[in-house]
Amino acid sequence: MKAFVKIIIIILIAAFAGIQFIKVDRKNPMVKADLKAPQEVKNILKESCYDCHSNETKWPWYSYVAPFSLLIEKDVKEGRRELNFSEWETYDYQKKAFLKKEIWEEIENDEMPKSVYTLTRPNAKLDFVKKNIIKKWAVGY
Ligand code: HEC
Repeated sequence: MKAFVKIIIIILIAAFAGIQFIKVDRKNPMVKADLKAPQEVKNILKESCYDCHSNETKWPWYSYVAPFSLLIEKDVKEGRRELNFSEWETYDYQKKAFLKKEIWEEIENDEMPKSVYTLTRPNAKLDFVKKNIIKKWAVGY
């Protein structure tokens, strides 16, 4: 092997080892005021959205391995900031209505759950029936 290839491999291994030391926050804050919705709606949201949009995130084993840990941490942080079902019942009427409109749009446009996520969680993908259940719930305000 050429010397520079070896050097590049050594650098990559060192970088991979090095990023393992970056601290990742995998804490799940307390559930304050979880969404109240019909069971069939909740089941779908729990299966497809709660890992990023609630304080009940299930952290898979690869969430302990950088760089995946860093990407997942970022998604969860941003996801919770936009929409946190564990705080849903603290939102006022306007915020709920706004978020339901957003949820409807995200589902209509196939933007949620994120495709990187469903790559490893085929069960989280929404089929036609599930989409309609969520969309029907989302227009009910
Ligand atoms: C892998 C993590 C992940 C999953 C799973 C996920 N989301 Fe998101 N969601 C995000 C992130 C990150 C953002 C903020 C950045 C963005 O809009 O892409 C977001 C933003 C949103 C927004 C706000 C959109 C906007 O325009 O700001 C809505 C609404 C939403 N998600 C709904 C859902 C619903 C409904 C589900 C389940 C069907 C879901 N998400 C599943 C990560 C996720």
